[in-house]
Amino acid sequence: MARFDDSRPEMSAEEFRLLRDHVYSHCGILVHEDMKFVMERRLWPRLEVLGAPDFSAYHRYLRYDANRHVELEAAVESLTTHETYFFREPSQLKAFREELLPILEKRNARTRRLRLWSAGCSSGEEAYTLAMLLKDERRFDDWDVEVYGTDISRRVLAMARRAEYGPSALRATSADLLERFFLPTGHAKVRVRDEVRAMVSFGHHNLLDEAGSQLVAKMDAVFCRNVMIYFDQAARRKVLRILRDRLVPGGYLLLGHSENLLNLGADFELVHLRGDLVYRRPELPGLLGSEPR
Ligand SMILES: C[S@@+](CC[C@H](N)C(=O)[O-])C[C@H]1O[C@@H](n2cnc3c(N)ncnc32)[C@H](O)[C@@H]1O
Repeated sequence: MARFDDSRPEMSAEEFRLLRDHVYSHCGILVHEDMKFVMERRLWPRLEVLGAPDFSAYHRYLRYDANRHVELEAAVESLTTHETYFFREPSQLKAFREELLPILEKRNARTRRLRLWSAGCSSGEEAYTLAMLLKDERRFDDWDVEVYGTDISRRVLAMARRAEYGPSALRATSADLLERFFLPTGHAKVRVRDEVRAMVSFGHHNLLDEAGSQLVAKMDAVFCRNVMIYFDQAARRKVLRILRDRLVPGGYLLLGHSENLLNLGADFELVHLRGDLVYRRPELPGLLGSEPR
């Protein structure tokens, strides 16, 4: 059905439902009913690119076309939020640094190895922030330290690998940190220094992909901040189960400040630090009354 003010097709309630369900089952992001207009507006350009006459045709393309996987990524890209910046949620980072890192240092003293994961890393600021925190902690200088950043969006991963940032990404970065960890590029941007970049690697990963997650190494801590806020309970539960499985026993999960595991029945222990609340995979299987799945 055409709008009276332009020739762009309107999204019917049924088309909305089909597209919403398709996106949800792929990546866990639930577009609410009252966001139909937003979905319509964000997907119009995709219809134009493909020459699809309406949203039903677009849905058919997403389901059956040989190129459907590429297009689904483009659709998800247009519906996701990638907002992030360096040193986001400083009180949590302080708690991580002052309270969790000493525990991890002691626990891994024999292997001298540390693995951190920024799950839903967007353009890389969170992963680089973690690498910078570790660099600052001279105690890990001769350790085998790796930070992984993964995201469902290849566009933001390309930005993460480029490692060049402007003022918005640096709004919570002090002059001192800027000086120590970044180099000017000459066009109002800075670049993360090579010694920090060398600690971080990026990869494409859908957090709902259970089989793909088996390829992720076991982690000492996972930061999954401000990712599941767009998911419903069922998708959150699934992601939490997958993340739990990727943590070593006793490994930590750090969520964003507006998120918690209430009512999710996830098999994590709540840990009260002086400066924050974090979650931990129990040391012993079955400690919380359920075996690891
Ligand atoms: C708002 S950003 C958060 C970035 C960073 N964690 C932070 O807190 O600053 C959310 C990111 O999650 C990613 N994302 C959304 N659904 C995902 C999924 N199913 N698998 C992996 N990444 C996903 C988005 O592409 C986006 O880059």
